[in-house]
Amino acid sequence: MMNEVFEIEGGQKLGGEIEVRGSKNGALAILAATLLTSEPCVIKNVPLVSDVLAMLEILKGYGAEVEWLDERTVKIQAKDLKIEPSDLKLTRKIRASILVAGPVLARRGELKIGKPGGCQIGVRGLDAHFEGFGDLGVTAEKAEENSREVYYLTAPKNFQPATVVLKEFSVTATENLMTLLAGLEGRGEIHLAALEPHIQELGEFLKKMGAEVSGLGTHTLKIAGRKNLKGAEHTIWPDYIEAGTFFSLAASTKSNLKVKNVPVEYLEMVFRNLKKMGVSYRIGEQEAVISGADSNLSGAKIQTLPYPGFPTDLQAPFSVLGTQAQGTTLIFDTLFEGRFRYSEELNQMGANITICDPHRLLISGPTLLYGTNVKSADLRAGATLIIAALTASGKSTLSGAGEIDRGYERIEERLQKIGASIKRVVAE
Ligand code: EPU
Repeated sequence: MMNEVFEIEGGQKLGGEIEVRGSKNGALAILAATLLTSEPCVIKNVPLVSDVLAMLEILKGYGAEVEWLDERTVKIQAKDLKIEPSDLKLTRKIRASILVAGPVLARRGELKIGKPGGCQIGVRGLDAHFEGFGDLGVTAEKAEENSREVYYLTAPKNFQPATVVLKEFSVTATENLMTLLAGLEGRGEIHLAALEPHIQELGEFLKKMGAEVSGLGTHTLKIAGRKNLKGAEHTIWPDYIEAGTFFSLAASTKSNLKVKNVPVEYLEMVFRNLKKMGVSYRIGEQEAVISGADSNLSGAKIQTLPYPGFPTDLQAPFSVLGTQAQGTTLIFDTLFEGRFRYSEELNQMGANITICDPHRLLISGPTLLYGTNVKSADLRAGATLIIAALTASGKSTLSGAGEIDRGYERIEERLQKIGASIKRVVAE
């Protein structure tokens, strides 16, 4: 794989408008759900990020036909759904590959899948998925093939919906159980369901396919599924995590920025934390204007929680704000225990951050950041380092651009348009 790096010249004020693209995690769940029907589905506003492109390859691997109708509209039809992918390696690219399990089990009653890959951000087993499937009688067997872990999932003879109690508010496990129940004839429930915006979005999509879904936005979902779901059309909702990333970018670089296509209704806690940290902003209809130049940043406690709490995916981007704020910022990520690796990179840039334990980080601010060579450990860490490099004075080289491409579409081109000095180069 080509080693691409971003070269970033920091310290300049950004300005103008930037538009939020479709939700990565929404797209991943909905694309996988298209496997539930043999009819064509048309999905619009697909973000062109590598995780989503990898998902399309996985769908093809299970027999789906994938056709791009325009730049961001894709038609998917899984007439002949296979129970094992053409290449087990495909699923290693992204953790969300496990999302094909629900639809394939619903239609075929069995499935073979390679161990999913994804960001290295903590202990993330698949227990919530497998235990949830287990409540419906599905058995999971682990095996090794060509030194790779492979799972065989098998439904019971009399495969029927029932009540599933998840072990925690797991986002992708909720999605997998939703698609599975939507594709089985009869009524089932999911208790302790997660309720992130992309779960609500998936629920809306399943309704368009002909399932009855109630309780969206709560921890108890009731689903009346059908064997013959129809093809459906859907436009992916805007990405609330990308919106939040741009808010931190504007405030950290003390820039005034209009962020367009913002799902404001899903960002309550994010706005609340911006306010706590002294960021001036104005919320409009599907947009937000961040007045970084007029903000008086102060440290605060940021605690991540399952939705509607502050999203774990935004704690890293908000840490840069902490480095620019007066006083102490405590970041308490209650969910993941491996998501602070970016802090060493920020310290190399001049930040004053202490990892207290795997879940808590203390930032003393304000500190001047200066450009240097850094590497992104995962997707959100990568976005964080871009924000830091644009906040810093001098030049930074950020390696691991591919990590950022997993979730932010052509980020350098979009940042250039708001005045950022950032370019992608192939490292020697
Ligand atoms: N967790 C708890 N308590 C809970 C719920 C979860 O401690 O009540 C812990 C889990 O033990 C786990 C972590 O939180 O360590 C995440 O759990 P979850 O199963 O919800 O994560 P996921 O479904 O694997 C999705 C997103 C992630 C996002 C998490 C949390 C997709 C494809 N992935 O992952 O997205 O961080 O939910 O919101 O939807 C990203 O976009 O960068 C990303 C990693």
